[in-house]
Amino acid sequence: MTQEELFKKLVAHCKEYGFVFPSSEIYDGLGAVYDYGQNGVELKNNIKRYWWDSMVKLHENIVGIDAAIFMHPKTWEASGHVGAFNDPLIDNRDSKKRYRADVLVEDWMAKQDEKMQKEVDKARKRFGESFNEEQYRSTSPRVLEIAQKKQVVLDRFTKALNDNDLEELKQIILDCEIVCPISGTRNWTDVRQFNLMFSTQMGSTAEGANTIYLRPETAQGIFVNFLNVQKTGRMKLPFGIAQIGKAFRNEIVARQFIFRMREFEQMEMQFFVQPGTEMEWWSKWKETRMAWHRALGFGDENYRFHDHEKLAHYANAATDVEYNFPFGFKEVEGIHSRTDFDLGRHQEFSGKKIQYFDAERGESYVPYVVETSIGVDRMFLQVMSAAYTEEQLEGGDQRVVLKLPAALAPVKVAVLPLVKKDGMPEVARKIVDELKYDYNVVYDEKDSVGKRYRRQDAVGTPFCVTVDGQTLEDQTVTVRHRDSMQQERVAISDLKRMVDQECSFARLFKKLNL
Ligand code: GAP
Repeated sequence: MTQEELFKKLVAHCKEYGFVFPSSEIYDGLGAVYDYGQNGVELKNNIKRYWWDSMVKLHENIVGIDAAIFMHPKTWEASGHVGAFNDPLIDNRDSKKRYRADVLVEDWMAKQDEKMQKEVDKARKRFGESFNEEQYRSTSPRVLEIAQKKQVVLDRFTKALNDNDLEELKQIILDCEIVCPISGTRNWTDVRQFNLMFSTQMGSTAEGANTIYLRPETAQGIFVNFLNVQKTGRMKLPFGIAQIGKAFRNEIVARQFIFRMREFEQMEMQFFVQPGTEMEWWSKWKETRMAWHRALGFGDENYRFHDHEKLAHYANAATDVEYNFPFGFKEVEGIHSRTDFDLGRHQEFSGKKIQYFDAERGESYVPYVVETSIGVDRMFLQVMSAAYTEEQLEGGDQRVVLKLPAALAPVKVAVLPLVKKDGMPEVARKIVDELKYDYNVVYDEKDSVGKRYRRQDAVGTPFCVTVDGQTLEDQTVTVRHRDSMQQERVAISDLKRMVDQECSFARLFKKLNL
């Protein structure tokens, strides 16, 4: 199965098992907007809990807030989003389709990588065991020619983006002979900047309506509350403020399911530090965040850092944590050193002093900021991509199982009476009642036990507990483990301890060494 087919199956699975639905589907959906179903919302809440507790509970010097989505319009002038939160757009006159000019060039560069890889694969077949890829890449005239062509374009591209040179961006598209995937032509318009913020009106027209924006990042809600939190919480530098909330961007190229959405959720933490110490903290947060990802057990080799060549207007260093999705390594989280840009600009635009008095140094200053910013939905897709597994079983059967970390699983235990009689349903209900105060538990009595196991595998339930004839005699049940499919006999009185041990968040948190 190709990675593309795997991804299609994952999307279909998300819908079939109540994880993610297209928004307002009965009206044919709304582009790049999605709803979470009964299992999706549980998984999403668990992801948020994993993040929130790891920040706020496990760090004495990090506190949380929940700021409003609507903010004073000046916020976005100060932050630079009104002037600079743009994507370069280009239209194809024949297909009337609109594209991000930078994405067209990036796709072209990815194609050059594929071409080089094809050459390498062909040579590997030709040379067999003795093949040395590194040597081949550095000597093959064909590979060198493609690599050089790509490098020239990459240099021009980076410069064009940094200089905001839209004419050059169009020229690169023409020089690379990039065609519209729909019309196949090179009949392109000029490149224009397009602001990604959604706007709406606040107040009635009679009162004089005000244009306000739906926030494109949650971070600004933290910056404008810096003094409120610092003073009321008597916080001392270094300290952090964490927040989870919705953000909105009018993305032009919305693709890959919930990877790039127009309405999404972010988990952001702004860490305020003394000026001059930001690089040290940036490195520390890189390490801490990578450990958080890896603790989920999806394989260290599937994560990597990608340092930014083009820095955002507010940053002096930035890296992405990338995950190996079915469509390649892509960003899940950004870790940015934002300098004193945001607090400084809010100080300037509001006319209010936004400074920290450092008693040890005997001076006031605008703190520097290191930010960790991760999309909840993108993390959700990362977890689903890593967990989705198709297994061939003995006897020719197949199963789809979500190998989710137990703490994140939407349902922790399914309780199944073997038959709907002889007092088994009553005992099963009692077990549900005992566990339901601590965990999300389901009761299922429909179909054969085998079918019920498959249903639970498909949503990633770590334990299936079957009540049978023996239960009525000795108060034990069969516990079936999701990943190994091993079964064991466990006393009902031991069930809670067993579920605690496997499913508790504490187990995950201890791996973080915080
Ligand atoms: N405050 C900094 C900031 O917003 P960003 O790199 O633009 O930085 C941070 O976004 C994270 O938010 C990304 O790493 C990604 O996980 C998530 N994100 C950004 N745009 C998104 C979108 N359109 N759909 C889903 N998630 C998105």
